[in-house]
Amino acid sequence: MDNKVIIPLDLEYSAAIDMASNFEPSHCRLKIGSQLFTSSGPKIIKELDSKGFEIFLDLKFHDIPNTVYEAVRSAADLGVWMINVHASGGKKMLEASKNALVGYSKPPLLIAVTLLTSLSEDSLKEIGLNNLSEQVLRLAKLSHECDLDGVVCASSDTAIIKQEFGEEFITVTPGIRPDQSNLNDQSRVSTPNEAIKNGSDFLVIGRPITESDDPAGALKDIYKQII
Ligand code: C5P
Repeated sequence: MDNKVIIPLDLEYSAAIDMASNFEPSHCRLKIGSQLFTSSGPKIIKELDSKGFEIFLDLKFHDIPNTVYEAVRSAADLGVWMINVHASGGKKMLEASKNALVGYSKPPLLIAVTLLTSLSEDSLKEIGLNNLSEQVLRLAKLSHECDLDGVVCASSDTAIIKQEFGEEFITVTPGIRPDQSNLNDQSRVSTPNEAIKNGSDFLVIGRPITESDDPAGALKDIYKQII
């Protein structure tokens, strides 16, 4: 079970380095998102890579196909373990992101975000979309057709995605709350145990670990729940 948890370092540079020092590279992967990457740049990747951590560079590219192609190549050049794009960028954009990795001897895993786990049915209606589950499945299908390695989705969408697209199609699940009393800005949440039972390959767990007084202990407790 070790290494199923991906910890987002949604912090600034020195706080991120301090937070990472709580963990062992054999027990978790680290996620660098737009906050940390925008403030720190590639040096944060080099620093955490030198400590042995595998990095998920979560920049959720969503742009015209040519721009995403170049962005994906720049991300792959950084030698990270996983990168992602928004599936709603459409087929041509997804194909461009896949094509961008041709020629790399050890390309990063390429994952597409279906719908953010912070979006509820109501927030989806505000952007003109109706059925949340249908929309997730449609975007997962498109990502699978474009030969991406998997998707980011809520735990509740995982079982159907595995059933439709196979065990090999990776599911990365944010919105995990060991204690459901503090959802922060997430809407569609589940416990670590539910997510594993639903078939999630990787659990993105941020604030329940990073805002704990004992981040290493919080990670240990989560592994106890999913073993
Ligand atoms: O566990 P916590 O809510 O703190 O984790 C939030 C992290 O997961 C953030 O880094 C956010 O960008 C990321 N994320 C998400 N929903 C997605 C994709 C990524 O919450 N669909």
